[in-house]
Amino acid sequence: MYLWIKAFHLCAVIFWMAGLLYLPRLFVYHSVAQAGGELEAKMEEAEAKLLRIIMNPAMIVAFVLGLVLIGYNWGNGPAGLQLWLWVKVLAALSLIAYHGFLAKTRKAFLGGGRPKSEKFFRRINEVPALVTILIVVLAIVKPVFG
Ligand code: HEM
Repeated sequence: MYLWIKAFHLCAVIFWMAGLLYLPRLFVYHSVAQAGGELEAKMEEAEAKLLRIIMNPAMIVAFVLGLVLIGYNWGNGPAGLQLWLWVKVLAALSLIAYHGFLAKTRKAFLGGGRPKSEKFFRRINEVPALVTILIVVLAIVKPVFG
């Protein structure tokens, strides 16, 4: 059962990450769209759908299955979990916070708002990319600290 849960955890993570990396790209186009124009309306719709249909459900599934996996692993380390897994969970929580930031930013665009520059949204993808590298290295290498 454990491996099945882990497999679906990873599927959900993949869908979630796709959205986390793609939404800022939509914000780039949205930033240069004319306020009140046709492109702006299309971007607002695309952003809302991406969050509602893909990102929110995928995040919830990834998180809930992650908690179930934590349940299985509980007691394996000095503080309940092994240290690498604690760091992985903290890094995953930072992606949830980033998801919240993107959802808030989507709302700030509504009604012609331009919360940040186009350049900002081009650069911001480096943050989830680096956190993902950290999480995957921790989850696969499972380094022993100390
Ligand atoms: C949302 C919160 C998350 C929680 C609570 C969580 C928790 C867990 C737990 C407890 C495991 C089992 C570890 C093991 O069997 O050794 C696991 C596996 C895994 N997680 Fe997550 N995770 C979360 C998000 C993520 C994210 C965002 C990623 C990737 C960016 C990710 C990638 C992985 C990978 C690759 C594995 C498989 C490790 C292995 O092969 O054993 N997880 N996760």
